[in-house]
Amino acid sequence: MEKTAIIPGSFDPITNGHLDVVARSAKLFDKVYVAVLNNNSKSPLFSAEERVELIKRVTGDFQNVYVESFSGLLVDFAKSKSASFIIKGLRAVSDFEYECQMALANKNLEGDIETLFMTSSPNYSYLSSSIVKELARHHAPLENLVPNEIIQDIYNKY
Ligand code: PNS
Repeated sequence: MEKTAIIPGSFDPITNGHLDVVARSAKLFDKVYVAVLNNNSKSPLFSAEERVELIKRVTGDFQNVYVESFSGLLVDFAKSKSASFIIKGLRAVSDFEYECQMALANKNLEGDIETLFMTSSPNYSYLSSSIVKELARHHAPLENLVPNEIIQDIYNKY
């Protein structure tokens, strides 16, 4: 049976840390869906459509990676793609408590879907979309933090 995984997140914007998790997951699963949360209440920097476009731009080389936005429950999106796995990157212990809560809530909603945690590569362990936005707001360099192809799109927002 085909193994399909979902990598969910806000991705506002995608970072090299996210991309690392996508690249490693693409080697482990037949199909990987990057699922972009379309959540208007969070007032993101990039619209869901823009975030999907940026992620598609930087994942174009992966034949088995698909990018879509979703709203509502993650497990419903996973079921709609016949995915049995949710992949979450863990940067540090501080991520664990929240991620563990989410994993248990999702397990309670849909027992057949497993959340798997992937330890982030050490060079990305401090990296987050919030840090990227803070640096961009101060016109600091973004090389090595986000893919080069999207740096200008981020600066253009400020
Ligand atoms: O990048 P983020 O903001 O940490 O991602 C959070 C995300 C998208 C994984 C999470 O908010 C989510 O799954 N939202 C969808 C609603 C849902 O299914 N929540 C879990 C049950 S409470």
